[in-house]
Amino acid sequence: MKIAKIFAQEVLDSRGNPTVECSVVLENDIKASAIVPSGASTGTYEAVELRDGDMDRYLGKGVLKAIENVNTKIAEVVVGMDVEDQREIDQAMIALDGSSDKSNLGANAILSVSMACVRAASLSQGIPMYEYVATLFGNSTDEYEMPVPMINVLNGGRHANGASDIQEYMFMPVGASNIEEAVRWGSECFHHLGNILKEMDFSTTVGDEGGYAPSLGSNEKPLELMVQAIKKANLKAGEDMCIGIDAAANEFFEEGKYELKADSMSLSSEELCSMYMEWVERYPLILIEDGFGEDDWDGFVLLEKRLGERIMNVGDDLYVTSIERLERGIKEEATNSILIKLNQIGSVTETIEVMKRASEVGMKCMVSHRSGETEDTFLADFVVGAGTGFIKTGSMSRSERVGKYNRLMRIERELG
Ligand code: PGA
Ligand code: ZN
Repeated sequence: MKIAKIFAQEVLDSRGNPTVECSVVLENDIKASAIVPSGASTGTYEAVELRDGDMDRYLGKGVLKAIENVNTKIAEVVVGMDVEDQREIDQAMIALDGSSDKSNLGANAILSVSMACVRAASLSQGIPMYEYVATLFGNSTDEYEMPVPMINVLNGGRHANGASDIQEYMFMPVGASNIEEAVRWGSECFHHLGNILKEMDFSTTVGDEGGYAPSLGSNEKPLELMVQAIKKANLKAGEDMCIGIDAAANEFFEEGKYELKADSMSLSSEELCSMYMEWVERYPLILIEDGFGEDDWDGFVLLEKRLGERIMNVGDDLYVTSIERLERGIKEEATNSILIKLNQIGSVTETIEVMKRASEVGMKCMVSHRSGETEDTFLADFVVGAGTGFIKTGSMSRSERVGKYNRLMRIERELG
């Protein structure tokens, strides 16, 4: 079905900052919209999120230029195209932008159109979006794999001022038999953890991704408290429920050293790697994301050599969902897993390309939200259609996070 009209508007993300919502109208009058998210601990090599820089509006964070680009330049090219030609639509926008980092039109502008087309095409075909996404991946539409959620219950770093240096501590219900059980276990452990914090007189206010954000005075303490919470929930740590962390180490890498302020420690890559190894011995820690800074390839390679057989070693800022950076990671054997964020690269087609390449070489893909999220649950359908096994979408609080879990449960029920 041909695209009759596209238009974008400014809406707010979960931090109250402007972001782009795009609506696509087809010639059969079907209309669909999508909203792009926005990161805080962004990688240097991410595609460019176009912001106005006009300090009189939203402290410079307005996205009117990106919206103007959708409504004029992109509309001129995309209107009249077949909405089911996702690859052609994305390629046309990439060519129109002409830069290597989408800095002319803005990755936020391009992605909003790209995502809205996916949703419009699925509505036009009268099928659920996850099914349409499966066809984009060339996956079977008879069987679906539901993802293991990575539930970020303790927020630190850029997502919670004054908490841990490590940005995220996540429950991973690897032993749950379905999403419904995974979500229930996640919620129960989250609330037990809250009660443990209260009993210890720590704060239970939440950070950007809905996890608690106490000042525990150490980066290791969260792991200990999470194990206690797992036990309180009558689950087996290491079997039913495991733990993952996103160090987002780029954020505490200063002049060649990793500065762990909560521990008053300044570590080399080698020392940081040893610390992770000790944690893996002591706790049911099965995943470490961005254990090192985005240019510290040697750090990742070291961790991969030492722990690659035991844990998921994930690159986020390291790869920024870019095929070029992924190829380097494959060549150097830097990690065994990759975090996937649509807005790091800026189109659905390129995201699929990266995920397929990663899967081809046996790497695991974790499909992820951003710390500035929205009510759009695109990610839930996307991960089910992709069938790659993991979704990272925050804590069991704040509706922009929980909305994705609710959508996953609805999909599971629909599929029976
Ligand atoms: P961001 O954080 O969205 O602020 O970049 C998420 C992450 O680092 O995984
Ligand atoms: Zn990350």
